[in-house]
Amino acid sequence: MSTTAQIGVTGLAVMGRNLARNFARNGYTVAVHNRTASRTHALVEEFGGEGDFVATETAKEFVAALERPRRLVIMVKAGDPTDAVIQEFAPLLEPGDMIIDGGNAHFADTRRRERELREQGIHFVGTGISGGEEGALHGPSIMPGGSKESYASLGPMLEKISAKAADEAPCVTHVGADGAGHFVKMVHNGIEYADMQLIGEAYQLLRDVAGYTPAQIADIFRTWNTGRLDSYLIEITAEVLSHVDAETGKPFVDVVVDQAEQKGTGRWTVQIALDLGVPVSGIAEAVFARSLSGHAALRDASRGLVGPKASPLSESEAAAFADRVEQALYASKIVSYTQGFHEVAAGSEEYGWNIDLGAVAAIWRGGCIIRAAFLDRIRAAYDARPDLPSLLSDETFAQEIAAAQDDWREVLIAATRQGVPTPGFAAALAYYDALRAERLPAALTQGQRDYFGAHTYRRTDRDGTFHTLWGGDRSEVTA
Ligand code: 6PG
Repeated sequence: MSTTAQIGVTGLAVMGRNLARNFARNGYTVAVHNRTASRTHALVEEFGGEGDFVATETAKEFVAALERPRRLVIMVKAGDPTDAVIQEFAPLLEPGDMIIDGGNAHFADTRRRERELREQGIHFVGTGISGGEEGALHGPSIMPGGSKESYASLGPMLEKISAKAADEAPCVTHVGADGAGHFVKMVHNGIEYADMQLIGEAYQLLRDVAGYTPAQIADIFRTWNTGRLDSYLIEITAEVLSHVDAETGKPFVDVVVDQAEQKGTGRWTVQIALDLGVPVSGIAEAVFARSLSGHAALRDASRGLVGPKASPLSESEAAAFADRVEQALYASKIVSYTQGFHEVAAGSEEYGWNIDLGAVAAIWRGGCIIRAAFLDRIRAAYDARPDLPSLLSDETFAQEIAAAQDDWREVLIAATRQGVPTPGFAAALAYYDALRAERLPAALTQGQRDYFGAHTYRRTDRDGTFHTLWGGDRSEVTA
């Protein structure tokens, strides 16, 4: 066996297979390996014409097929299967070799694996890859972590196979050390959950408040997709909504069980945000909305609960309402990204990753599930001011939200009046209002905490920590 392959991919389920094909189509010789060798041979048989593949059957053969330093991509399930594959291959590798984990791993696992393999001189490159099967084949957005040295060797290859943004920039950047890439991919998925939830709420409002059919709503989304909401998720939403079930002739969306599933990355985003103390309320509501939808028994038991009387809108009112929903969706979307970028910044700070937020926005412009025209403006905002405290402090976004806010509020009033659940829109608006508030009831919370637990408080007018003798003469003492 010749040692000619520049890269190897093990784990040839659909993502791994498509990634291997993408490397081959871009002129790289790709060693391929799978636990069951039949899959490896099937890949080469079916797609061998696309480029240069080296089919290997054993771990030893696979490793031997790779030029040095070896670049070995593992595309297996996150968690134990990833550890098992690392344990299988690591003993066969030499210092300087690279293991690239392209799965949706938890960044804490990635940090552990990176540390362990570093002792052996092996670079472990936890890499977020977004774009689904199509992206893996035609160009994903790629978020590699790991050492700078590994990026020097891998970067040019990843740049070649990645998606390209409208300005032709490759959608890949070295995000930061150890788990930075998987952390950013996790937040990407959290934002993905929030985006999907907000779009879902817009759909339900257009249906239940404005009275539009799924096909009409598909057209509305198509129109929105030509404006500032231009994004992959809006585009596919129109496709899903206009699809008609062949068997029943009903809108497809009406024959699908309304219980959303999840594999966990959105939940991780919220769990980690809680640990870091970052308010990602919109993402959290999206995760909770999926979880609520899945509680079939609870929902069955609650169907009889009384709601408000519905009052349908006239045709012209419906059209005006649709325009308002666009404003609410856009404003809420800005808030989701604000929260997501806050979490990336907080993670970067906590783990010393020094993540360039503008670069993250830039590589999300193409290839990934949350790709959207407005990410170019997020990139511009962070490029102009890398220390931007929040996206909402960018003048353009602040102005856009200011212009949208009346409609945003009206939409939430209508939703509340008609009893349509809009946790994402509401959480986004509450976040906006809380951030801009002069005073928050947190002062009262502090008073309560001091009352029942002597937890102390700080004053607005002088430094120090204080406690009030609530049970006594209510005088104030320095704590
Ligand atoms: C991507 C997607 C991908 C996957 C999600 C779906 O960026 O390509 O995010 O990673 O589709 O994990 O997640 P759920 O199954 O949790 O919705």
